[in-house]
Amino acid sequence: MPLDSNNEIYVDNAATTSMSKDVLESMLPYFSRNYGNPSSLYSLAQVSRDAVEVSRETIANILNCKPSEIVFNSGGTESDNLAIIGVSKALEPTGKHLITSKVEHHAVIHAMEEMESLGFKVTYLNVDKDGFVDLDQLEQCLTSETTLISIMYANNETGAIQPIKEISQIIKKKSIDLNRDIYFHTDAVQAAGKLSLNVEELGVDLMTISGHKFYGPKGTGILYMRKGVPMSPIILGGGQERQRRSGTENVPGIVGLAKALQLADSSKENFNSHCNKLINNIREKLSGFKYNNTIVTPEKNSLSNILNVCFENFEGEPILIGLDMAGICASSGSACSSASLEPSHVLIAQGIDPKLAVGSIRISLSLENTEKDIEYLVENLERVVSELSVYAKN
Ligand SMILES: Cc1ncc(COP(=O)(O)O)c(C=O)c1O
Repeated sequence: MPLDSNNEIYVDNAATTSMSKDVLESMLPYFSRNYGNPSSLYSLAQVSRDAVEVSRETIANILNCKPSEIVFNSGGTESDNLAIIGVSKALEPTGKHLITSKVEHHAVIHAMEEMESLGFKVTYLNVDKDGFVDLDQLEQCLTSETTLISIMYANNETGAIQPIKEISQIIKKKSIDLNRDIYFHTDAVQAAGKLSLNVEELGVDLMTISGHKFYGPKGTGILYMRKGVPMSPIILGGGQERQRRSGTENVPGIVGLAKALQLADSSKENFNSHCNKLINNIREKLSGFKYNNTIVTPEKNSLSNILNVCFENFEGEPILIGLDMAGICASSGSACSSASLEPSHVLIAQGIDPKLAVGSIRISLSLENTEKDIEYLVENLERVVSELSVYAKN
């Protein structure tokens, strides 16, 4: 249940979600009565310390890892930075080659660019027209200099799900052939609450999760780090989180994050079947649209709740403004780059014509969306595009 429901139709859940009432309630005592610093010695602090450790265990059970392999931090961006900058710096003496894909979130791409500026070599893997990484290219570019690969679990703009298990097997085999440790990080920010986060089954060494994408609090995140993965911390100070991430723990945030992940992970089948139905409904309705549109989200191997559609000869922004005037919150590609008119790097990497890519709209659903919402959304989408067609470029 969301905390408050205004009258808007919110279909931008890949940008952020409303926080659930249960999550808020779990956090409240740690803002007030239980305010102790987990690092202090007295019993008031013990309550906070226990809350952090119970949350760590809850999360470890979902990820099928040890509690000590969980690092709490401020969100997806910090986790991605810590995985890439922290691990590649620690491994610098053994090699300076990193691999990622062209469709990653900017939290990964910009961290990789930072490493390039420090003299590392980064290979950006190509993707096919549906956004899936080129596995042959991955196999070929792994060398005796490669230390870390970062490939996202599910794409935030299109919902495409990468074959993480297959990628991990390729890396493991090559690791054996080359007789060296090569570590694998995945950004699972959009996958949490929709797909399995079992790190053993996935075969990943590092995994990023962000609390606010599944009804949890903003500014909370997790980096799963397999025991033994070398790490040079990027935030230095009091040595919290076993020296991996300094700073007084955000106790209410950690408690809320664990509660939200527990709720989202245990209800993911229900979430997926609900959203799948609604997304299929939108797909069907779009095929009957008067205006040419291209659905970018692949039909298979994509998240249940994301649909990215491009309108030919239109720009996404005016469509979003028109939708906003009708009380609908949607997005064009990545929320973080919605202030820019540049076509999305993800769609360009998939080979989509930039003129088509600028007309991209991302719809991302949640359990709160209803059939009625979808009807209203599609009706208004068609109306707004029709009104804008007067000004459309030919
Ligand atoms: C795939 C992906 N990675 C990382 C992030 C950044 O997460 P945060 O907002 O918690 O910093 C996002 C946010 O949109 C995302 O979608």
